[in-house]
Amino acid sequence: MIPLSLAQIARVTGGQLCHGDPDAVVSGEVVIDSRRAGPGGLFAAVAGERSDGHDFAAAAVAAGATAVLATRPVTVPSVLVADVPAALAALARSVVDALPAVRIAGITGSSGKTSTKDLAAQLVERLGPTIAPAGSYNNEFGHPLTVLRADAATRYLVLELSARGIGHIAYLCRVAPPRYGVVLNVGHAHAGEFGGLDQVARAKGELAEALPADGVAILNADDPRVLAMAERTEARVVTFSSAPVSDAPVRAVDIRLDDLGRPSFILLTPEGSAPVTLRLHGAHNVPNALAAAALARELGMDLDGIADGLGAAVARSRWRMEVHQRPDGVTVINDAYNANPESVRAAIDALAHLAQGGRAFAILGHMAELGGTSRASHEDIGEYAARIGDSGLAGLIAVGEEAAPLLDGARRVRSWTGEALAAPDGAAALELLANRLKPSDVVLVKASRAAHLEGVAAALEGEAGQ
Ligand SMILES: Nc1ncnc2c1ncn2[C@@H]1O[C@H](COP(=O)(O)OP(=O)(O)OP(=O)(O)O)[C@@H](O)[C@H]1O
Ligand SMILES: [Mg+2]
Repeated sequence: MIPLSLAQIARVTGGQLCHGDPDAVVSGEVVIDSRRAGPGGLFAAVAGERSDGHDFAAAAVAAGATAVLATRPVTVPSVLVADVPAALAALARSVVDALPAVRIAGITGSSGKTSTKDLAAQLVERLGPTIAPAGSYNNEFGHPLTVLRADAATRYLVLELSARGIGHIAYLCRVAPPRYGVVLNVGHAHAGEFGGLDQVARAKGELAEALPADGVAILNADDPRVLAMAERTEARVVTFSSAPVSDAPVRAVDIRLDDLGRPSFILLTPEGSAPVTLRLHGAHNVPNALAAAALARELGMDLDGIADGLGAAVARSRWRMEVHQRPDGVTVINDAYNANPESVRAAIDALAHLAQGGRAFAILGHMAELGGTSRASHEDIGEYAARIGDSGLAGLIAVGEEAAPLLDGARRVRSWTGEALAAPDGAAALELLANRLKPSDVVLVKASRAAHLEGVAAALEGEAGQ
């Protein structure tokens, strides 16, 4: 972070300095988790559902924080503000304004933001010092906290932008105005809150609208709602496509998956072509890789560097398509980070691919925040699972009552010979699976974040005395 005095922080945030030396300097990290407060840092106290950060103000300062950003008086050096996210946004914007040479990229979409951000960051880091968020730091807290990590040495910011409603991405783009904007897809994640896919498209397209005339909009040509965003931007448009036939400048052709579902393809760009093999699993990572490639290309990386970087890039964020092979020959796909209809279909596709020669099982929890279409969406996914491959999944285990419509959908497929099993919780799902699994079987574990099925995946991975 750029060193800022408490007087400067008070001025930028419109806050009031209390119990502090105006010349005391914040040069460490800005955090909202007091346990992560460290020397010279700034602790932003937020009132959450379970605890109130203000109760930890003294602990943060004892751990070395220079001061606390607070909305009510505390007994330690602090800057009192009306609204903490707004104060963080103002601070982040002041850092961006102080670093005009930093090139800022924003990545949005319904699925694959973190995967793409992690790929893009691993490419862009080869060009120069890069700040990218850890995990999914993509909202009104995580976004400014990430931006605040930039300093005079930073050359690139690769940011993940999330929206749960109209105006959210426009807001994030005001905090750190991107010159490069990547839109991956428009899908059903949070579609219930938005009120349908057209509204999701409206919200994600705010990134395209925020780009300046000398910026670049990097759009997925394979998603019509994304491609239509070309009409909503002043920026130059660059498209990418993994379709067999396309006029997009950045493409993947000859896509193949190895036994573990890792894609290989020929990367085509106007400068030439190069073979790429990803270390990530699942065909859905091909468009993510193309988006990262298109961004790196705009930032000046040559084709060889892009192909080499994509081949070297690893999964940085946990629980997204982690493929684990047990000593007993069972393969576990831990994709428990989150779930929406598109990402569950992508994961079932990967499961079916990995299970060629064995049987496929899925432990699925519910997909949250789908609104009125929730039941039908769950049924459709169940049906998809029952139809996949030659004979559908060998077993579909739905965890929790809200996931039960998955089983109704699977049972609609008359020819399906697999088992539809209901489990009240993860432990019960593990029990159901325990005496069914045989060597060469593959198990997918996936659900919305709230279901916390990563523990189920971890238990499965740890079984059979690895
Ligand atoms: N391009 C894609 N299309 C469909 N599904 C995808 C795509 N990329 C990733 N996924 C799936 O979506 C899940 C979440 O991926 P990721 O964390 O990258 O998305 P995200 O957009 O950052 O999600 P969040 O909104 O929770 O931050 C992964 O587990 C994977 O199964
Ligand atoms: Mg994410």
